Amino acid sequence: MPARTRDRRAEAERLREQIRHHDYLYYVRDRPAISDEAYDRLLVRLQKLETAHPELVTPDSPTQRVAGRASGAFVTVRHAAPMISLESTRERDEVARWDDRMRKALGPTLRYLLEPKLDGASMELVYERGRLARGVTRGNGDEGEAVTANVRTLASVPLALRTTVRSAPRLLSVRGEIMMGLRGFERLNKQLVQRDEEPFANPRNAAAGSLRQLDPRVTAERPLRFIAYEILAVEGAEFTDDEEVLAALRDWGLGTTDHTEEGRTLADIERYHAAMNARRDALGYEIDGVVIKVADLGARERLGATGHHPRWALAYKFPPRVEITRVEDITVQVGRTGVLTPVALLRPVEVGGVTVSRATLHNASEVKRRDIRVGDTVRVYRAGDVIPEIVERLPQRRGRRHAPFRMPARCPACGTRVQTEGPMTLCPNRFGCPAQLKRSLQHFASEGALDVQGIGEETANALVDHGLVREPADLFALTVDDFGSLEGFAEKSARKLVDEIAAARSLPLHRFLYALGIPGIGVTVARDLADRFGTMDALRSATRAALAETPRLGATRAADVYAFFHNARTKRVVDRLLAAGVEITREGRRRGPLSGKRVVFTGGLGTFTRPEAKKLVESLGGRTSENVGPNTDFVVVGESPGEKLDEARKYGIREMSEREFLGLLRQAGIKK
Ligand code: IVH
Repeated sequence: MPARTRDRRAEAERLREQIRHHDYLYYVRDRPAISDEAYDRLLVRLQKLETAHPELVTPDSPTQRVAGRASGAFVTVRHAAPMISLESTRERDEVARWDDRMRKALGPTLRYLLEPKLDGASMELVYERGRLARGVTRGNGDEGEAVTANVRTLASVPLALRTTVRSAPRLLSVRGEIMMGLRGFERLNKQLVQRDEEPFANPRNAAAGSLRQLDPRVTAERPLRFIAYEILAVEGAEFTDDEEVLAALRDWGLGTTDHTEEGRTLADIERYHAAMNARRDALGYEIDGVVIKVADLGARERLGATGHHPRWALAYKFPPRVEITRVEDITVQVGRTGVLTPVALLRPVEVGGVTVSRATLHNASEVKRRDIRVGDTVRVYRAGDVIPEIVERLPQRRGRRHAPFRMPARCPACGTRVQTEGPMTLCPNRFGCPAQLKRSLQHFASEGALDVQGIGEETANALVDHGLVREPADLFALTVDDFGSLEGFAEKSARKLVDEIAAARSLPLHRFLYALGIPGIGVTVARDLADRFGTMDALRSATRAALAETPRLGATRAADVYAFFHNARTKRVVDRLLAAGVEITREGRRRGPLSGKRVVFTGGLGTFTRPEAKKLVESLGGRTSENVGPNTDFVVVGESPGEKLDEARKYGIREMSEREFLGLLRQAGIKK
């Protein structure tokens, strides 16, 4: 055999090995080791080699099937129809060429449905006679793993199709995406790290990993949502157009995305792509591009598919959320409750339109596990306003590496000897440590607590650094001149802030409790404590046992609350605040059921439009807002609720159906 041929054969085999390895890491372990781009490069290289030298193709080459492999833990099931993937591009010119082809094939009546490309875990749900029969992962495209018991735990997966509007077909196989919202992803990673488990690299892996849990109870706790976008197979129903399909899916109780649009021209596609890219950060979940689909189902059939992709659809991708950069330093941040967090300072790099220069490393054991050191080249992931994460360390080309990172023995802010608690490192100098004081002050002023808008991170830092605030109570003694001495404060804004602080002095007990930043006491538990004890005096003199009886508190947190009120230092902090004039107001009994309440609507309402609903709430003394926050009192949940519902659940905010909301209105004498 000539040497050239031998080399090519060896290269093809090497590429196959690499691709199989990365398929395994991606599909089976849910822990990819390389980016999608790097993976694509391997695959394209192999494809080119095989196309140029067909004699090199082997039946088991990854090019001969859609990638994927079963793990053995779940039963393998054939899909109702192959789950083929989309052709994708980032190039405008390729989109133009594709659009040209469609136009030539289908003529001037061509219509597209434009959709977000959801970046989650692909899933088939099969309904037989209207009942959920199975949920199957994409697997290799022909067959995947039945993860039915896990999928059943998702609130967004109807166990039976809704038949109030449209009767159920004999068989329905739906394709969609299981998504984990960004907030949920961030929270999950935080929990994993706290338990000394490995965090996920991105929400897609987190979703896929959550679906492949052996214990459905674990899946049930993960913030997952199913969003449907295609029918793979149906018996007993007919459709001619994609819009109709989506409407039917919604009728049957399946969630679809709210962001589809109709388009006819390349300009429409461009506009939609740009608009969705601009909204990408605000969606609350990951999309990695848009999908352009021929809307007419008859036309789709005529166009058919190539081996791997349908000809009638194209994914037009956004810039990646992952970039490569260098770790320039590793510092340690001290949080509000004294937790020390190692943070990688990065050579600034633009990731999906935002410059990233820091990434969290979570804790000492995580740095050790990933073996991240100063000087290393790393891949960073960023989405929305989620704190950037280091996905992986890239192998070093040459040279010696820096020494491994070590957690300092003393708090970098106050020099107190640190303590360890499981994977956490803590500075025990609560309220005495300037770093903790800065973050406590910021939290004290935040929404849900005192709600003083003007005190963010920078102002809190400056107040402590200038010695103007040594403990939270000092906030109430600040004068216009004090603020005037800080950089960036004009007299007018200083006066406004002083007035705002004075007004924030009166507040309900639950907000004061939340403001104190007692470990483990979030907005919800603060409300429970306030409801149960009613006054600050009652709470401060409560026994451990009495505290432990508070709903949702539990013995551990009861002990923390007790300790907080009996520790000499924190006790003094509270005394001083009360002496400085903090006044606990009684939650007033005001007119009407919505007085003083903040209401958020999510999903479609059947009885009224959003503006009508807003007016009604306001006429009853309430306020509506677009976003869920710690101050939200109710969420009214309509059809196909969005991310706001997940957010509300995070805060434990009361959910209300549209029916219940109507009931409230009726109570108030309003009929609709
Ligand atoms: S349609 C035959 N629509 O993107 C075409 N796919 O290969 C079927 N995806 O793994 C796919 N959002 O799971 C379609 N709006 C959308 C989508 C979407 C995300 C996923 C799909 C597939 C990948 C592309």
